[in-house]
Amino acid sequence: MSPRLGMHTLTAGRGLLFGGDYNPEQWPEEVWERDAALMRAAGVNLATVGVFSWARIEPEPGVRDFGWLDRVLDLLHDAGVAVDLATPTASPPPWMGHRWPQTLPVDESGHTLWYGSRNQFCPSSPIYRRRALALVADLADRYADHPALALWHVGNEYGQVCHCDVAAQAFRDWLHERYGDLAGLNEAWGTTFWSQRYGDWAEILPPRRAPYLVNPTQRLDFQRFTSDALRAHFRAERDLLRARTPHVPVTTNFMGLFKPVDYWLWAGEEDIVANDWYPDPADPDFPARAALTHDLIRSLGGGRPWLLLESATGAVNWRRHNLPKPAGQLRLESLQAVARGADGICYFQWRASRFGAERFHSAMLPHAGPDTRAHAEVRAHGAELRRLAAVVGEPVPARVALLHDWPSWWALEEPGRPSDRLNAVDQLFGYYHPLWRRGVAVDLAHPEADLTGYACVVAPNLYLISDAAAQALTGYVAGGGTLLVGPFSGVADPNGHIRTGRFPAPLRAVLGGSGEAWLPAATDRPVRCRWADGREFTASVWTESLRVEGAEAVATFVDGDLAGSPAVLRHRHGGGVAWYVATIADPAPQAELIERVLVDAGVTGVLGHPGAGESGVGSGGSGGTAGPGEMPPGVEAVRRGSVLFLLNHGADPVDVTVSDPATDLLTSEPVSGRLTLAPRAVVALRPPR
Ligand code: GLA
Repeated sequence: MSPRLGMHTLTAGRGLLFGGDYNPEQWPEEVWERDAALMRAAGVNLATVGVFSWARIEPEPGVRDFGWLDRVLDLLHDAGVAVDLATPTASPPPWMGHRWPQTLPVDESGHTLWYGSRNQFCPSSPIYRRRALALVADLADRYADHPALALWHVGNEYGQVCHCDVAAQAFRDWLHERYGDLAGLNEAWGTTFWSQRYGDWAEILPPRRAPYLVNPTQRLDFQRFTSDALRAHFRAERDLLRARTPHVPVTTNFMGLFKPVDYWLWAGEEDIVANDWYPDPADPDFPARAALTHDLIRSLGGGRPWLLLESATGAVNWRRHNLPKPAGQLRLESLQAVARGADGICYFQWRASRFGAERFHSAMLPHAGPDTRAHAEVRAHGAELRRLAAVVGEPVPARVALLHDWPSWWALEEPGRPSDRLNAVDQLFGYYHPLWRRGVAVDLAHPEADLTGYACVVAPNLYLISDAAAQALTGYVAGGGTLLVGPFSGVADPNGHIRTGRFPAPLRAVLGGSGEAWLPAATDRPVRCRWADGREFTASVWTESLRVEGAEAVATFVDGDLAGSPAVLRHRHGGGVAWYVATIADPAPQAELIERVLVDAGVTGVLGHPGAGESGVGSGGSGGTAGPGEMPPGVEAVRRGSVLFLLNHGADPVDVTVSDPATDLLTSEPVSGRLTLAPRAVVALRPPR
C-alpha cells in the first residue's frame, strides 16, 4: 500500500466523496447529459464507470471503441464529477467464451459456467489474462491524462473459483512453490490417510467432486491458492496501471467478511481499501454487523480512511424478499460508515437499469425519476455530507483488537468436525456485539500482527494457529496485555493438522488451563453454567472438558459429566491476564464476560461507562434499558478524530446526556446536556476548539 496515494488524493479539494456506479452504456447519449446535470445537483463528485463495459469497448477481439467513453468522461468532468474508472475485466464478452471455452470457469463437478451472466473466467487462464491485460493497457494509455480520472477500479468483487485443468496446473505450480517437493506435499496433506499418497505432480488436482469427504488440507490449500491466483491477476492489472499512471491510486471492491479471498493478503496490494456493503433491513442485528464490517475494512487499510464503493439506497435484486428502507435510513447507514472511517459513500448504482438481471435493484435515481422521495433523500444527503469536512482523513482510535484470520476460517469450517454449529463469523459477531453495545472502538487484526499497542485482544476463534501467533499472544499477555480466547481455538497447525496433547496446546501456558475433549451440546436444552459467585447463566452449542493449571475457574458447568469443571478460565500470566471460554454463552452472560475482560484491560467505551451512570450518556424515552457499561439500546457511539458520532438505530427516541458542550456539525446547533435522538437520528458532535 502506498501512503502517498491514499484517500487524500481524492478528498483533497472535494471533501467526502459521494456518488455511485454509472453504467451509461445502458442508456442513449441524451440521457448522459441529463445524468451529468442531475449528478451535479445531487452533490455527486465520484462516479465508477465502465465496470461491465468490456463488450462495448472491445466488440470483437482486438477492436477498440473508446469514443463513447471519451464523451462520458468529458461530460462527467465538466459536471465536476471525478471518475473511478474500472478495468472492465470482471465480465468478458461472449466472444471470449465462445472462441476460447477454456477461459470459462469449471465447478467442482466439472460443469462449465457459461456466459450470459458475468464473472465467467478462470483466474488462472493465460488467454483471459492476456486479453484482459491488453485491454487494460489500452484503457490506461487512452485515459492516463484525462482530467476526470481520479481512481482505478480493478475488476469487480474478486471471488471467482475454478477447478478446470488449467487451474489444476496452476495449483500444482503453487504447491510446488509452497512445498518444494512431493514429499513435503504428502506430509502436509497427510496423504498416508485413505491411500492418498501422490507419486507424480500430474496426479494432483484441485478438489473435485469425489465419492466422500475430500482431503481437508487439499481443500485448505486450494482456498489459499484461489485467493492468491485472483490476487496475481489483480496485481498484473494494477502494475500496468501504475506504470502508466503513477499518480492515480488503485483499488478494487471488497465484500466485507467474504470467505473466498484473504483480504489481509490483498489489502496491502491496493492504494485504497474499498468495500461493497448491502445491509439487510430484515436483520435486526444489521447495525452492529455494519459496524463490524466497517471496522474490518478500516483495519485492512491499517486504520487509514476507506471508501464505501457500493451500497444500496433501497432494494437489491439478489435478496428473495426486500424489506423497504424507511425514510432516513440511507442517511443513517451512510453516516455510520463515515463515523467508522469512510471518506466516501457510493451506491450501486446512479441510475436504475431498465433491463437485465438488476432491473429491480434500487438506485440513486430510481425508474420513477428525480421527483421521488428516494432521490430527494439522495440529494439532501449529498448536500449534508459537505458539512462533515472536519472528519475527512481523521482516524478512529481503538484500544481493542479483534482477531480474524481467513485460513483459520477456512479450516474451521471444513466438513467432518465435531459440530457444524460453531462458525467463524458467528463467533466474531458474538464477541463484537457486546463491544459495540458499549461504544468500545475495535480494530480487526491478523493473529500475527503487532498487537502491543492494544489494551485488549479478543480472539473469538483461532481454530488454526501458527506457532508465531501463539508465541506473540503469549508474549502479549506476559507484557501486560489482556487476552480473551474463544472456544475450539489453538486446535490445528497451519496445515490443518490437529496439535496433539491437551488443548489448546500452544496456548496452554498463557491460558493456565487445558482440555481433553470437545463436547458439542445437546440441542434441546441450554448448557447451564455458574459464575464463581453462584449465579447461573446459560450457554449453548458447545462445551469442553477443561482443567485449571494455574488459572481460576471464573465459571463452571453445572450438569452431567462436566458438573463443576471450568467453563471460563481467567489466568494472570506475567504482567497481563488471559481468559479462555469453553462454551458459547447467551448474550447476557457474554456481555458480562466482555465487561469483566474490559475491566481487566482498563478499557471503557467512548463515553466512559454509561450504564454505571458515571458520565456521558443516559437512556430515556421508551428506548429501553441498558445493561452495565452499555449504551441505550439501539444507540451507537463512535469517535472519529475529535468528532463524537451518536446514532440511533432503534425504533424509539432515546434521551442522551452529553456532558461536554459541543456543536452538531450536521445542524451547526450547539448541544449540551440532554438531547433526544429520534429514531434514525445522528449527531456529529465537535467540541469547541
Ligand atoms: C455487487 C456488484 C455490482 C452489483 C451489485 C448489486 O456489489 O459489484 O456490480 O451487481 O452487487 O447489489
